[in-house]
Amino acid sequence: MTTSNRRYHITTFGCQMNKADSERMAGILEDMGFEWSEDPNQANVILYNTCTIRDNAEQKVYSYLGRQAKRKHSEPDLTLVVAGCVAQQEGESLLRRVPELDLVMGPQHANRLKDLLQQVFDGNQVVATEAVHIMEDITKPRRDSNVTAWVNVIYGCNERCTYCVVPGVRGVEQSRTPEAIRAEIEQLGRQGYKEITLLGQNIDAYGRDLPGSTPEGRHLHTLTDLLYYVHDVPGIERIRFATSHPRYFTERLIKACAELPKVCEHFHIPFQSGDNEVLKRMSRGYTQEKYRRIIDKVREYMPDASISADAIVGFPGETEQQFENTLKLTEDIGFDMLNTAAYSPRPGTPAAVWDNQLSEEVKSDRLQRLNHLVNIKAAERSQRYMGRIEEVLVEDQNPKDATQVMGRTGGNRLTFFTGDINQLKGQLVKVKITEVRAFSLTGVPVKVQEPVLV
Ligand code: SAH
Ligand code: SF4
Ligand code: F3S
Repeated sequence: MTTSNRRYHITTFGCQMNKADSERMAGILEDMGFEWSEDPNQANVILYNTCTIRDNAEQKVYSYLGRQAKRKHSEPDLTLVVAGCVAQQEGESLLRRVPELDLVMGPQHANRLKDLLQQVFDGNQVVATEAVHIMEDITKPRRDSNVTAWVNVIYGCNERCTYCVVPGVRGVEQSRTPEAIRAEIEQLGRQGYKEITLLGQNIDAYGRDLPGSTPEGRHLHTLTDLLYYVHDVPGIERIRFATSHPRYFTERLIKACAELPKVCEHFHIPFQSGDNEVLKRMSRGYTQEKYRRIIDKVREYMPDASISADAIVGFPGETEQQFENTLKLTEDIGFDMLNTAAYSPRPGTPAAVWDNQLSEEVKSDRLQRLNHLVNIKAAERSQRYMGRIEEVLVEDQNPKDATQVMGRTGGNRLTFFTGDINQLKGQLVKVKITEVRAFSLTGVPVKVQEPVLV
């Protein structure tokens, strides 16, 4: 290949894990001498990193793929890769559906992209979906931001929520060692990154597959221990983590977050349903009362903490009364943000074959009603920022207004203010909030008194 035909494009669907995987795969491609192409039509290697959490996420992939498969008929040298969760779920059958594909690779194989592509360039059509031990990545990820970075701490999920494809496509839990995680964060600190987000589908499970336990029988490596272990890495100003599971969320973790100044006071703890019977059929392993106690505890230690979550409406058999329990929980907690979704039956999951599925009309009606409430509550929660001075980590220019920059508060509210991105990128700026909306804020930077030289 000449340099002109060594361009790659990646489109990423789905969650933060996929984003992190894409950054690592982009790093591998660059290491192989490929250059990024924003336009897929100018690229010779196109990789779709896919999501299958709901049916509409999966369908989106097929429509993107169809277009490039057609292009391959006139450009046979084009290399088409499907990675991620649809790849894992569909495997070989993807090749039957789209014979133009060169490589189908599950999420556990992301770090092996170079080997797999080599097999493709040797003339093979490759499917890599078998369960493997995830290799530590030796290539540098090509990260989208140079201010904030994702750091995987645990891959996979051992839960069995009855609606969810993730355990099937991401495999069993595999924790990285604290040393490997710290080394990655130290490197990020040296490179000038200011904020990291530790990632896991069920991050509270971190460490339970690693050897070692304390004299009391507790795992030696828990998320709480990890936070203490990495919080002093030089250069890193903020630490976030996601996603928390109410079943495993501990007071010890809450205490650590309150105690460690770099850990942001933002908790993403999905509750999925406000009804105990539905929670039980989802196999979530907690009650709505336990969920409320967790949030009370968080607020006892950190009264201003921001709380976000995920919820599903229209789970099979959900009655109007049970749905109203979800509304009630949403109303009572007052989430800063809530990701909502209508239940989507997924292949290979228990709930998909139950015969008490609800109609699309009922699901979309409930979704609308919940979203309406979410907006009201988020707007109420935003009010508390009015007139306050918040610390904002500047990430980028406001794409809608070049005179403004944007960043996030510790509580994860998107905040805009007037300023020059070239001067402010990566800085923590104190901003007085002058306008509040449901999911974003606007403010003015507070002048810091210049030290008087005498
Ligand atoms: N590990 C996280 C979330 C993983 S998936 C947790 O346990 O909460 C992200 C969100 O997608 C879930 O929280 C859930 O709200 C939603 N989701 C998962 N499967 C779904 C399905 N079949 N239909 C609709 N929403 C779903
Ligand atoms: Fe899915 Fe449940 Fe695992 Fe979350 S904890 S990824 S919802 S199975
Ligand atoms: Fe989607 Fe896979 Fe993430 S199914 S939500 S990309 S784990």
